[in-house]
Amino acid sequence: MDDGFTYDDNWASVYQKYTDMRGRIAEAHEAVAFLERHCSGGTALELGIGSGRVAIPLSERSVRVEGIDNSDSMLKLLAGRTKAIKAWQGDIADFTCANRYDIIYCIYNTFTLLLAREAQIACLRSAASALSQKGILVMEFDVPALNGFIDGQKTTTLLVDHENTVIRTDVHDSLKQNLVSAILWFSDTSVRRLPQPIRYVYHQELDTMAECVGLELAERWGDWTGGAFTQASKRHISVYRRAASSA
Ligand SMILES: C[S@@+](CC[C@H](N)C(=O)[O-])C[C@H]1O[C@@H](n2cnc3c(N)ncnc32)[C@H](O)[C@@H]1O
Repeated sequence: MDDGFTYDDNWASVYQKYTDMRGRIAEAHEAVAFLERHCSGGTALELGIGSGRVAIPLSERSVRVEGIDNSDSMLKLLAGRTKAIKAWQGDIADFTCANRYDIIYCIYNTFTLLLAREAQIACLRSAASALSQKGILVMEFDVPALNGFIDGQKTTTLLVDHENTVIRTDVHDSLKQNLVSAILWFSDTSVRRLPQPIRYVYHQELDTMAECVGLELAERWGDWTGGAFTQASKRHISVYRRAASSA
């Protein structure tokens, strides 16, 4: 199922700095508190665990955390930071596990890195079959930002300071619901190009895909601290459980 996109060494080498710059390290404790509250000391599986930004602090709160990632480079980052988390190389669009988990979570837009509808549904199906009877699936990703495109292209400034200029370029493929995106990071005399293609999904399509695999929406929030999901929300945190009809 894996169509080849993976976080390579180039991404891994700047991941910590990039997520810090984007405020994602600072807010990790909010995600951890939310996940801990929803799993109450049970077992968790992170889909696209990366460097353990959230998994490591969650594992320090009496939750047994495991993870899957398809990037050798990201798994090496994780292994360099902790030995307490079992993580393995695999495709989140197509996995099976011996264990069942009280919470499975897929955060920070990782789900949208699956570039085809079939891969996204397969991910949800794999997750549904790895949940314990009362287990929940937590998804966090951005509301599609399709404003501001001219001739199907857009450039967004993410950050400018004394040392860095970081911009994102997007090309819209409306037939596939894909944004062929890349981060361009200029600093001193160097420039990095970090690909980040996505298949964007609205929350209602996610609900429909979840229903296809026997899950139903239990909660939806606009942020990790329980803020409401509104028209102004830039992302959502959606919690699914087994549908009553399939339990
Ligand atoms: C945006 S990062 C998020 C990492 C981590 N979840 C976090 O919140 O910091 C996306 C992660 O998903 C992984 N990934 C992307 N596509 C994947 C796939 N098809 N299967 C497994 N992992 C994947 C990447 O290697 C990367 O580590």
